Amino acid sequence: MSRPKVTVVGAGNVGATVAQRIGEAELADVMLIDIIEGMPQGKALDLQESAPVLGVDACYAGSNNLADMAGSHVVVVTAGLARKPGMSREDLLQKNSQIVGGIADAIRRHAPRSFVVVVSNPLDVMTWLVWRKTGFPRARVMGMAGVLDAARFAAFIGMELGVSVKDIRAVVLGGHGDLMVPLPRFSTVAGVPVTELIPAKRLAEIVQRTRDGGAEIVALLKTGSAFYAPSAAAVAMVKAILRDEKRILPVCALLQGEYGLSDLLVGVPARLGADGVEAVIELTLLAEEADALRKSAQRVKSNCEWVEKNCLA
Ligand code: LAC
Repeated sequence: MSRPKVTVVGAGNVGATVAQRIGEAELADVMLIDIIEGMPQGKALDLQESAPVLGVDACYAGSNNLADMAGSHVVVVTAGLARKPGMSREDLLQKNSQIVGGIADAIRRHAPRSFVVVVSNPLDVMTWLVWRKTGFPRARVMGMAGVLDAARFAAFIGMELGVSVKDIRAVVLGGHGDLMVPLPRFSTVAGVPVTELIPAKRLAEIVQRTRDGGAEIVALLKTGSAFYAPSAAAVAMVKAILRDEKRILPVCALLQGEYGLSDLLVGVPARLGADGVEAVIELTLLAEEADALRKSAQRVKSNCEWVEKNCLA
């Protein structure tokens, strides 16, 4: 059996770190693609030269040609402008629609059987755009945001309680934006809901810090946005597919009536395995939780409509 191939489009901080993590975990051979001449080739060669030191059977290549994604099992889309301080994810809408739309066309042409994991922002809109432009079934187009948002929530819960992150399960639904919906009721430490472990007022602060998690890193870095946690999150999804793990992860996926929502991609728990998004899992939500999800989904939907009107016409 030949080794699986994963293409990472966009060789910036997120893309290059995704490539590194995939290679170092010996998950697949990696093709790194970017428009900047020499840059993906240079990073791929540098990564290749790290393999003997680490003793990993990793194989990296770099290219400026999207056609080199041919034969990929999974394509990870990280290309696009990153957020600068003070810039909202929606500010990126127009520019990244052009970039990601072009990549989606290339995926349809060159990797028509691939699974696509979208990482570019604004995440839910870009995932919708790839779904719309490739025409792929819902199982094969997904966005990475929930794994990152849940990881941030889990990290803050761990810091608050002084417990191992291994014992924490955090759940976040909705769009990857200010209206995302962390769900304390479903977030647990060794099976105990955090609502029983952290006072309500403090928990509300932790929920807000989770919502602002991306902006907190942007404000600190000043010249870019987060990449260690986003790349780790994207690779967890790639791994779940390549290894048929059947993991239940929060994924931006097409809804077809689940949660009362349709024709819209937004973050929900899903089962990820060899067939991609194998199932969307519906949690039974309280009225206020369902309401928050609807509001978040509505924001995503209006942004998709804007792109449909202004970028696809
Ligand atoms: C974040 C940005 C990249 O959440 O969306 O870190």
